[in-house]
Amino acid sequence: MTTLGVNIDHIANVRQARKTIEPDPVQFAFLAELGGADSITVHLREDRRHIQDRDVFLLKETIKTRLNLEMAATKEMLEIAKKLLPDYVTIVPEKREEVTTEGGLDVKSNVNHLKNFVKNLEDSNIEVSAFIDPVSEQINYSKEIGFKFIELHTGKYAELTGQDQYEELQRIIESTHLASDLGLVINAGHGLNYNNVKKIAAINNINELNIGHSIVARALAVGLEKSVREMKSLITSN
Ligand code: PXP
Repeated sequence: MTTLGVNIDHIANVRQARKTIEPDPVQFAFLAELGGADSITVHLREDRRHIQDRDVFLLKETIKTRLNLEMAATKEMLEIAKKLLPDYVTIVPEKREEVTTEGGLDVKSNVNHLKNFVKNLEDSNIEVSAFIDPVSEQINYSKEIGFKFIELHTGKYAELTGQDQYEELQRIIESTHLASDLGLVINAGHGLNYNNVKKIAAINNINELNIGHSIVARALAVGLEKSVREMKSLITSN
């Protein structure tokens, strides 16, 4: 069954808007777990715009599910990950000027660097995933590099409508066939919400969906525990 990873970066965004101590993403991770989150995802950005180092170390101590650390493939982040020892790391591309992660990681252009990076993390018993676009070349290179997990970028699917969205959905489905034939574990995420999630959750072989913005936005109306529970029920009721 597809599991739900809840990204709590946006709780930290509200805190950082005032650079104060509330709301605390660590407390909200607890509520996400009560609502049925199977893992907690945080993106520790180079510019620390939302999640802080203190958050990731406290989450590692306090959550009862699994910690997914999203990070760029930099030396600084490698050192933090090896100290933190999250359950898994998702490597994402990172640009300072972007509002959120824009495209997938270009694994093809970084083969040697990523090979060493993945090995280094795996030697510390951390599972490593690559956040990539649903493109066969990127999937094949992810396998060659040694990733055992990939996260397919659903941002384009989420932005498109009508026939264009249908075609992007087909690209995601074909990507899952290829990745599954290669023996990769397939996660997916970005831009998923209460309206568009069901078609992605219905795809065979999707291990986990990582969802943040829509769940936190809905939490403002109904509370985080309930917004997570509603999303979990959408993705498990196929
Ligand atoms: N997966 C990855 C790799 C991401 O970078 C993000 C955004 O931080 C998400 C999933 C969640 O995206 P959203 O907040 O749009 O649900």
